[in-house]
Amino acid sequence: MLIDTHAHLDEDAFRGDLVPTLLRAREAGLVAVVTIGTTAASSRTAIELSEQYPEVYAAVGVHPNYAASASEADWRTIEELAAHPKVVGIGETGLDRYWDHTPIEVQVDWFRRHLELSRTTGKPFIVHCREAEPDVLAELDRAAEQGPLRGVMHSFCGSEDAARRCLAHGLWLSFAGMLTYKRSEALRRIAAWVPADRLLVETDAPYLAPAEHRGKRNEPAYVRFTARRLAEVRGATPAEIGEQTTANARELFRLPAAPLSA
Ligand code: NI
Repeated sequence: MLIDTHAHLDEDAFRGDLVPTLLRAREAGLVAVVTIGTTAASSRTAIELSEQYPEVYAAVGVHPNYAASASEADWRTIEELAAHPKVVGIGETGLDRYWDHTPIEVQVDWFRRHLELSRTTGKPFIVHCREAEPDVLAELDRAAEQGPLRGVMHSFCGSEDAARRCLAHGLWLSFAGMLTYKRSEALRRIAAWVPADRLLVETDAPYLAPAEHRGKRNEPAYVRFTARRLAEVRGATPAEIGEQTTANARELFRLPAAPLSA
């Protein structure tokens, strides 16, 4: 049993073969996929997909790299979409100094909006952090002054210190295909000690395919490779990791406990 907690099913990469993709996911043991919005339009599409496919849930938000081109009307759309019953998270949001598509002050403003929307809706936030660890941690510290946080560090690839500080804020850490890469020794060392009830797995599909399919299109079914690697580094069985991360995802996103019927 597995849940892919972060995929972008609305991307062109899945146009034309989403049905077989979701079928392969089901065959691989997935019981849910959370598809993540990156703009107002993609958030709307994420919701449409969640309405079409019972196992698909949506998150709505504006990715930091798209914040520069987002309008106030887009933000109002996100706020409205956030109330939809199949929207289980707010994001993806966060900060990105690698691409630098959006001035950092604008990214910070949008990050704060998402954190606030997460608080008012009670739906967890989904954080993207790329080469902006100190900034993201400072924003989380700031937000925590207003009350407890509920969210996930998506595709976590930060430092040990960052992991500890995020866990101290009560966040979940989600591991993606990077965990399977040869050079990711430091990341695997962190994944080995994260408390079991804070672990999640994801694909970030169509990006970041695990080592087994590196360079090709990633898809939700491949989350099993990340889960298998996570099991290895933690001395657990893949079944145990599947069960634990599925229970964690259901808790974080408040998904129905019963397996969905096809
Ligand atoms: Ni993403």
